[in-house]
Amino acid sequence: MQTTTVHSGGDGYAFVVDDRGLLHQAGFGPAIERHVAALSPELPAGLYPLAHPSWDQEPLRAPALRVTHADGATTTHLRVEHVETVDEPGGSGGAGGEAGSSPGLTIVLVDDGRPLEVRLHFRPEPHGVLRQWVEVVNRQDRPVTLHEVAAAAPLLRDSGAHLTHFGGDWAAEWTPTWEPVTLGTRLLESRGGVRPHLQRSPFFLLAPDGPATEITGTVVAGMLAWGGNVRFGFERSAHPVVRVWCGHNPFAAEYVLDPGEVFTTPEMCWAWSTEGVGPLSRRLHRWARERVVRDGDTVRPIVVNNWEATGFAFDEQRLVDLVDDTSDLGAELFLLDDGWFGDAHPRDDDDAGLGDWTVDPGKLPNGLTPVAERARERGVRFGLWLEPEMVNPGSSCYEHHPDWVVGQPGRPRREERQQLVLDVLQPEVADFVAGVFDRTLEATPGITYVKWDANRAMTDAGSPMLGADRQSNFWVDHARATWDVMATVATRHPDLTLMLCASGGGRVDVGTMRWFHEVWLSDNTDPLDRVRMQWAASHFLPALAVGAHVTRWGGRPVAFGCAVAMSARFGFDLDTRALTPHEREVCRRAVGVYRRVRPLVQHGDLYRLVSPFEGDADRAALAYLAPDRSAAVVFAYQLTARAGAADAGAALDPSHAGGLDALHVDGLDPDRDYAVTEIDLAAGDTDRGVTTGAALAGSGLAWPLTSATTARIWHLRPPT
Ligand code: DGJ
Repeated sequence: MQTTTVHSGGDGYAFVVDDRGLLHQAGFGPAIERHVAALSPELPAGLYPLAHPSWDQEPLRAPALRVTHADGATTTHLRVEHVETVDEPGGSGGAGGEAGSSPGLTIVLVDDGRPLEVRLHFRPEPHGVLRQWVEVVNRQDRPVTLHEVAAAAPLLRDSGAHLTHFGGDWAAEWTPTWEPVTLGTRLLESRGGVRPHLQRSPFFLLAPDGPATEITGTVVAGMLAWGGNVRFGFERSAHPVVRVWCGHNPFAAEYVLDPGEVFTTPEMCWAWSTEGVGPLSRRLHRWARERVVRDGDTVRPIVVNNWEATGFAFDEQRLVDLVDDTSDLGAELFLLDDGWFGDAHPRDDDDAGLGDWTVDPGKLPNGLTPVAERARERGVRFGLWLEPEMVNPGSSCYEHHPDWVVGQPGRPRREERQQLVLDVLQPEVADFVAGVFDRTLEATPGITYVKWDANRAMTDAGSPMLGADRQSNFWVDHARATWDVMATVATRHPDLTLMLCASGGGRVDVGTMRWFHEVWLSDNTDPLDRVRMQWAASHFLPALAVGAHVTRWGGRPVAFGCAVAMSARFGFDLDTRALTPHEREVCRRAVGVYRRVRPLVQHGDLYRLVSPFEGDADRAALAYLAPDRSAAVVFAYQLTARAGAADAGAALDPSHAGGLDALHVDGLDPDRDYAVTEIDLAAGDTDRGVTTGAALAGSGLAWPLTSATTARIWHLRPPT
């Protein structure tokens, strides 16, 4: 039996081809070569499950590919035509990639009765990540219709398979669900179009042998690189195996493919761990910093945003004051949010102005230059909010170009937040959208950061650029056209820092993020909720890419809000003039501490220590360690008050922690000494002496918190 494997750092796929040319999956998982070595060589290839079944190859199961051919045939029977290994310089397996990875692989399949070619691509990435995607080539003389085209459809053995997935809605992004994979099919999907990930984060964890912990268990991370609607399907049969389909959501999105054209699916990325989710996340963070977000090796600034402080109501003086406060707090970038634009249709609320990207002369008669200039004087960077893909009917843009928007012929346009989506399938509209950046940056020199927002779901999908018989192509084509615009903007403005936002975390995937430096995870900035949300996202996203701002959401103590936001890309979004003197001191202290621990948070290794979802779910703790283990920062959060807890003051000495309520810090070098500074943002720093990594892991730090919404930070450094 001739087996072909493709793997990243050992983890990946094994395939066999039977004597009829059918492609079978001989394995999908960790240590794939060892798995293959253990296979029985005399077992006929045909006994392994089909690797990428098309409709009718497994008639009773949902297919990975379903096509209506040019002659009306609805079945597809794929045979292997040939297999190519691919050495991609600069990052994939083999020559260019991680040591111990295989070269990339492309398996070319053809239908046995009609000219249709299907190419399965697999490319190893660094840090044990494997990318895969599918191309379908129509070699027929008329269009074919693609009803289902999964980017990936592996089979996993099921010994009590357990799924963790994330979804929600506005202000409830990244809500996790843990569930066993049960008999039947579990579909997870989104339909939000331009902000699809509000409902469904395109990430999951699947543990074939039952729930994994931070340090134990086999688990695979699945990540779809797609800025449009997504779908994951988990079909468990009684055998017991789970077939997992991943790809764009084909709901109402059949794709009509013309002769000679190639349909390319989004990429699905996989990474395995046999030692729980902790090591998996740390590898994914490294991968994301190197291969997903832009400039992942750079330090991210501390941001002050004005949205929660002012909403649409500000003038030049208010902004200048905020710039002054940005500098006074020690923050590094002032971000002016929504509301600065709209000349004929002032953006005084969300009724008007989108599309008219010129400064509102009523609000800012001197333009943005005085604000940018003040920022320059105070040594603060200046950032600006744009929502370039959208238009209000109340705008000059719409008055001049009512035909630029997405819609259905002959039907009224459906507004959401009083706005419509620009149809970037029209070349002049795509030019306009990309040009918004050129014109805005040219009009006000000094803008070095843009928050790119998108505040409505896609409805009424349709474009005059597609024929009457091609309108269902819209969902895929529009997502791709949007990516083209993003690529144009990133290429034209390579030094511009970009934040990806869509009503909060409506656009967070490892494909779209390649043009962005960071994401806005959610508009929900209540630090109590944020502890959980950031925890969930931390399974995949590195902290430097997760914007986290201190606001008044939830009415929590500012010190608690700071401590929570400091565990990601730190910033503020509150009325700095309304801070009490004590709160201002807390914020300034937080900035000082963040500057010291920032290299650890933004480029260190994350250890999730105490889960806010487990036990009494009343606290959480996490640590970021220097890659060489010489230093660390530990964050501890008390979420709700602890009944009957010991007096906090008695438990402050780390050397006394063992018998009390201990916080064990994993990952440190047991033989090293660490100087421990305990930081209470509300009160100040306390030197806790020197202790070893072994003691910090063993007896641990004493848990000093008892009251709700309190926090502690420990900075562990080499003793001087
Ligand atoms: C939604 C974003 O998530 C908010 O942070 C803010 O920028 C508003 N849009 C502005 O309209």
